Amino acid sequence: MSKKTDQHKDKINTETWLKFIKLAAPRKRLIISLIVVLIIVAILESISPIMVRYAINHFIKYNITDGLIVYSIIYLAIVVAISFGTKSWLKLSGRIETEMSYNIRKKGFEHLQNLSFSFYDRMPVGWILSRMINDVTRLCETISFGIIDFVWGGFTIIVILAAMLIMDFKLALIAAAAVPIIIAITIYFQKRMLRTQREIRRLNSEITGEFNEGIMGARTTKTLLREKENELEFFATAEKMNCRSIEASRMAAYFLPAVSIIGMIVAALILVLGGEAYTQNLIEIGTIYALFTYTLHLWDPIRQVAGVFRELQAAQAAAERVITLLNEPVEITDSAEVLKKYGAQDGAGEQPWPKIKGTIEFRNVTFSYVDGEPILENFNLTIEAGQTVAIVGETGAGKTTLVNLACRFYEPQQGQILIDGYDIQDLPQVWLYHNLGYVLQTPHLFNATIADNIRYGRLDASESEIKNAAKFVCADDFIEKLENGYATLAGEGGSKLSTGEKQLISFARAIIADPAIFIFDEATSSIDTETEKQIQDAIENILLNRTALIIAHRLSTVKNADLIIVLKNGKIIEQGSHIELIKAKGEYFNLYTGQFTIDTNI
Ligand SMILES: Nc1ncnc2c1ncn2[C@@H]1O[C@H](COP(=O)(O)OP(=O)(O)O)[C@@H](O)[C@H]1O
Ligand SMILES: [Mg+2]
Repeated sequence: MSKKTDQHKDKINTETWLKFIKLAAPRKRLIISLIVVLIIVAILESISPIMVRYAINHFIKYNITDGLIVYSIIYLAIVVAISFGTKSWLKLSGRIETEMSYNIRKKGFEHLQNLSFSFYDRMPVGWILSRMINDVTRLCETISFGIIDFVWGGFTIIVILAAMLIMDFKLALIAAAAVPIIIAITIYFQKRMLRTQREIRRLNSEITGEFNEGIMGARTTKTLLREKENELEFFATAEKMNCRSIEASRMAAYFLPAVSIIGMIVAALILVLGGEAYTQNLIEIGTIYALFTYTLHLWDPIRQVAGVFRELQAAQAAAERVITLLNEPVEITDSAEVLKKYGAQDGAGEQPWPKIKGTIEFRNVTFSYVDGEPILENFNLTIEAGQTVAIVGETGAGKTTLVNLACRFYEPQQGQILIDGYDIQDLPQVWLYHNLGYVLQTPHLFNATIADNIRYGRLDASESEIKNAAKFVCADDFIEKLENGYATLAGEGGSKLSTGEKQLISFARAIIADPAIFIFDEATSSIDTETEKQIQDAIENILLNRTALIIAHRLSTVKNADLIIVLKNGKIIEQGSHIELIKAKGEYFNLYTGQFTIDTNI
């Protein structure tokens, strides 16, 4: 994904973050509660030096203990309140974080389901997953910690400076003057540290890549005598990474002392000037103590606040990626007119959904996946209702493309695909999927029971309907023989099902909705002879009274078809029945006599 890889901008883009927060939509109530709790905690935490100041000025200086108990109780109450506050902001921020990632993932999931196939051609699934899992986790964490650090840090700074200014205006100004200097130093170092960190991350992924290549390509490397060169390349990258890592530690090593030194200087100035004022009876000793403590505590919140900006900067690219993904336009949608006319459900629009008979027509269809590389040009084909059409042809001929278009997974650049004379773009997508049963070449079973996998075809199907569907496609026998019958787990988690068995289950899933059109990309290989027979019987049952478009690899399927289309480079080069085509001694004859090893791609 070279065009999408991390393009970092150093400025914080408020718009991006606002957009992200809007997508994540945490409840305002939670955020406001968090902010209020943080402000209270910041204030309470900053009270301590004032309390000590009071103790010194009143109890210690005059050596009295009257009122010490009340004082202690107040002090204790503050400490308890702080610990309660801390507990509740931790809880609140955790809830905000979870809520945000849940909301974004939910939106993402819904959106990803709606996106067209062409989107998935451009975006590798791994890339999408990484956005939705890693980026979202990191961003939500960044935001919830960002709120904490920013509000807590910001208020602590304000409270400390205010308290100092009230206590002693002149001395407080010294501290206040140092604040911008510390901020400047922090920003300077953080910017540089961020840059080296990014560089380190980039080099790290480069190293991983080279490592991977070194392992995966070991055999090739050895035979081509490239070991030495690969090694040198790897070492060079590793060396660069080493240098950058050292640089990063050095920067960190300079940063803290630099801030500390300035802090110390300010603290020392306060002690010296405060001491002088004390000798002239202008200031009390407790106040000097409080000012001194505040000065020492002022730098940490500054670093926290600066850290928020650094984190936002670092995560900005990720935020942009997630936003782009969630805003990716859905290419194939029902137009406003279609929705108005037919509605998203039958009966919801001005007109009822048309009853399907099942004629499919490709009319002057021109289609390309990639601009300028047409797969089909002015393609015409009509399949009558109830007819079974088998499509044969070598790999890359365009068979799957035809199916993709008929299912409206893609839309043609020119021409139309019509069902019963209606352009499918003029009908709701849901209408099409209600009337269409589609079985993929490599059937996908979900990580659920077999019954649920079949039910996926029609969610309100009853147990007996599921069983009937399975019987209809000759899958009942083998399912009943499984350890837990229909309750056996299929899919990634549980299955020890063969490809053929999976195919039978996906037949049942496709047929349970009783579609008028059946589309089937036949599996090429690895079907044992026993299931082969069952599949054959199943197909025969399914095809009865249905329009079918079948990409056929097995001779038995092809032979029984009403019409056989031989496709080559997106063009129909022969068509007819099995007998006719054999007699013609053309391409079909060659394919047929060549043992029908037409398409070996999966
Ligand atoms: N998603 C896609 N993006 C770009 N090109 C594709 C895509 N799918 C298929 N093609 C190309 O379209 C042509 C026809 O492919 P396809 O319809 O899958 O053929 P078949 O199913 O007959 O093997 C091939 O040249 C293939 O490389
Ligand atoms: Mg194919």
